[in-house]
Amino acid sequence: MQFTVTPLSDTIGARITGLDLRQPLDEDTARAIREVWLDHCVILIPDQDLTADQQVAFAAAFGELEPPRAAKSQSADEPNVLLITNVEDTGMRTALEEGEMYLHSDGAYYEVPSMATLLYAIEAPAVGGHTILANCYHAYDALPGETKERIAGRTCVNAFELENYNGRMTRLGADTPHFSHPLAITHDETGRKALFVSRMQTISIDGMDDGESNDLLAGLFDHLERPEFTYEHKWTPGDLLMWDNRCTMHGRTDFDPNDRRMLRRLTLKGVRPN
Ligand code: SIN
Repeated sequence: MQFTVTPLSDTIGARITGLDLRQPLDEDTARAIREVWLDHCVILIPDQDLTADQQVAFAAAFGELEPPRAAKSQSADEPNVLLITNVEDTGMRTALEEGEMYLHSDGAYYEVPSMATLLYAIEAPAVGGHTILANCYHAYDALPGETKERIAGRTCVNAFELENYNGRMTRLGADTPHFSHPLAITHDETGRKALFVSRMQTISIDGMDDGESNDLLAGLFDHLERPEFTYEHKWTPGDLLMWDNRCTMHGRTDFDPNDRRMLRRLTLKGVRPN
């Protein structure tokens, strides 16, 4: 299948047009899409009309599907699907989410984070609820040499509590899922280095006192969130975004809680970052 690629921004993302994802993907097309995705970290495929099964079939061309690990309820019908929404009565497994969300990477608080996330827009609010994506390769590359040396070989604790999605967590709760990963990871497919810290999830640098760790992390979060490394996606129903959690962080802008927002989310299994 032929498709056209145009950049979404100067730093991250590519728009792919000319595909109808209701049709099965042949291997050559899947390989070509993967190349674009690895080069641009995020792909947007707009104007789609996808059932959950069609989204699952597309995702499965890129890796092994991963059932939502933190979901409160399980659904036998769609074991891999999670609705990210502020709508309460969907009859499906749902992460009830509204408001702003700080940057983070899916599953970074597990030993094995998710490799990829696919979000398909079913309903979008009129204003806000945009997804922000940061290019962690560019952020790493642009760090001063002295900072690269300071973080080399260091690990940091990544943790997750839903109540902290727009606040900075500084202390682990008794049952808070958490895991230490390198602050700079090497992407297992591209071999490129990426900054792997986020304002929502990274709470401390291992082996550093609190003052130094907090100062260094605050500088790294501000650096990663600079406009030259980020792109803000304004959703239109029918958009499918697929991002690479090994080289991106993502977050969300605020939106009116009375306006409906519904995205269908799938994730693919990753490997332990090094
Ligand atoms: C997510 O963090 O997976 C959801 C992002 C969003 O709601 O835009």
